[in-house]
Amino acid sequence: MIKLSSRIPGFYKLPQAKRIEKLAEIFDLIPSEVKDLSSQGSLTLDQADKMIENAVGIYSLPIGLGLNFLINNKEYIVPMAVEEPSVIAAASSAAKIIRDAGGFITDSDESIMIGQIQVLNCQDFELAKTKVLQRKNEIIDLANRTEPKMFSRGGGAKDLEIRILGDESEYPYCKMMIINLLIDTKDAMGANAINTMVEGVAGLVEDIAEGKVCLKILSNLADKRLARAKAVISPRLLDSDNYKGEEVIEGILQAQAFAYLDPYRATTHNKGVMNGIDPVIIVTGNDWRSIEAGAHAYAARTGKYLPLTDWRKDDQGNLVGKIELPMAIGIVGGSINLHPMAQIALKFLGVKTARELGEVICAVGLAQNFSAMKALSTDGIQKGHMALHARSVAVTAGASGEVANMIAREMVKQRDVKVDKAKELFALYSSK
Ligand code: MEV
Repeated sequence: MIKLSSRIPGFYKLPQAKRIEKLAEIFDLIPSEVKDLSSQGSLTLDQADKMIENAVGIYSLPIGLGLNFLINNKEYIVPMAVEEPSVIAAASSAAKIIRDAGGFITDSDESIMIGQIQVLNCQDFELAKTKVLQRKNEIIDLANRTEPKMFSRGGGAKDLEIRILGDESEYPYCKMMIINLLIDTKDAMGANAINTMVEGVAGLVEDIAEGKVCLKILSNLADKRLARAKAVISPRLLDSDNYKGEEVIEGILQAQAFAYLDPYRATTHNKGVMNGIDPVIIVTGNDWRSIEAGAHAYAARTGKYLPLTDWRKDDQGNLVGKIELPMAIGIVGGSINLHPMAQIALKFLGVKTARELGEVICAVGLAQNFSAMKALSTDGIQKGHMALHARSVAVTAGASGEVANMIAREMVKQRDVKVDKAKELFALYSSK
């Protein structure tokens, strides 16, 4: 095993087989892992059949590596499963700038999830609330007895919170007591354990509250399990031939204001954030629908849909970016243990806890958003997209390696990115 650095200059230029060779060297991959990486989808139909019902096939996505990530002074190579061109290049180039600025600083809350119990038909809801609070330890103990493994690992139900919602005068069935059971799921996302626990205590809650329990289910608004990332970037690192760093920062601040003021823009802004987050969620076998639902609900927590990131200028003129969102993810349990690629992805990431993974994911989201904001407020995103698109057009025309790169550069220069043009240039370069 060689010392890990997420800086691998020229990685994108290597043929795929060489990239995998390099990874095998860095991560001491065993032959089956190399085989899984080299194949078109490491999941077998048999494994798929164990994961879902009526399985008839496997849907594959490309996996690429986000490079240059330095987070809390630790190097991270970040696998990302995504179909959209330029996402990985954008994340890696943003991570390079942020690395030169000292890297990301991250932190996170404990892995506290929320399991909800909806209690109806109480004669006196305030009295029911008082009684449940008086006997909350009994409810917590019972919940923990239903999931002894989680409890023995130091996790499990820790506390509960109660709200009385609705108003009988408006609608006959709309008054209810909602109990949020707070459960530490440690390194698991915890959905199954949470649902087992809230179902397990429903009878006891009914007895105590003298009401009827209806829904018993986790909440995907995991706002007690937040992760955060931050980056401080000096304007010097943003200087380019066409723009001064200060101008780039002003552009990013204007873009931030736009997202803050307009939900139409905030939605696209946050889509860009999720461009970085979802691919890591997917490749590590986590539930991306849960993360998406939680992220957007968190973005709207004030009653107004807002950007998930915040970009400001500090007193020294540096650009300061921050992100915070719920991170209900795990490194064990569910399909994470079943999917061979998820296991390889976690090996690349080298994370020891679910919290560490959540922090890395936040850093990737911030990097992705930074890249989009920087491009959008300067050259526009089509320039970068075109360069990547041009390469795939050159490959479609039959070119490969450095010749494909030359053809791509020439097509972008001539502003003519088409297969016919690529074929013409390929014939020209081949005849030389
Ligand atoms: C495209 O997938 C994502 C962007 O639209 C994000 C953004 O506008 O911030 C570029």
